[in-house]
Amino acid sequence: MARANPQGKTGKQPDAIALLKADHRQVEEWFEQFEKARDVQRKLKLATQICSALKVHTTIEEEVFYPAFIEATEDRDLHHEAIVEHAGAKKLIAEIEDMDPDDDYYDAKVKVLSEMIKHHVKEEEQPGGMFAEAKKSEMDLEALGEQMASRKAELEGDEGMPGSMPPPGARQRSIRGRARSA
Ligand SMILES: [Fe+2]
Ligand SMILES: [Fe+2]
Repeated sequence: MARANPQGKTGKQPDAIALLKADHRQVEEWFEQFEKARDVQRKLKLATQICSALKVHTTIEEEVFYPAFIEATEDRDLHHEAIVEHAGAKKLIAEIEDMDPDDDYYDAKVKVLSEMIKHHVKEEEQPGGMFAEAKKSEMDLEALGEQMASRKAELEGDEGMPGSMPPPGARQRSIRGRARSA
């Protein structure tokens, strides 16, 4: 593909870093709204959005961005810490998804999740963090951005994400275990 205009991004997909940062900002906004929410149904809706978005986000990072990162930078410390942080967040997400929003501990779990995510996002975005290292590396951030955008659309179809429709004709393939051989 010809690179007619290397600095202009007119009408193009966001690159990998821009896509991941936009996800971070969206989830931060929903966490803030959760803190202010009083109504239980509203809290449930926001927590459900947050959990779905974080599952999709961690999946595209782990399937696409992180493997490309470790291959290009060989920075195992940054990579492995991020994987361990994702695992901790996923455990808490699963607990929240199993809970009733009336539960005495519901707000506390969402609050702790927001703190875990805040810490993790800082590690990814800070100077010397994963995103800064990725930018300095040979990673093809535009190609990775495209791959993640299409995987994201596919996963959002599975999650039934409110407010994010899968593109027309998106495959509705389930990510959950459907391997059932004869
Ligand atoms: Fe991230
Ligand atoms: Fe991450």
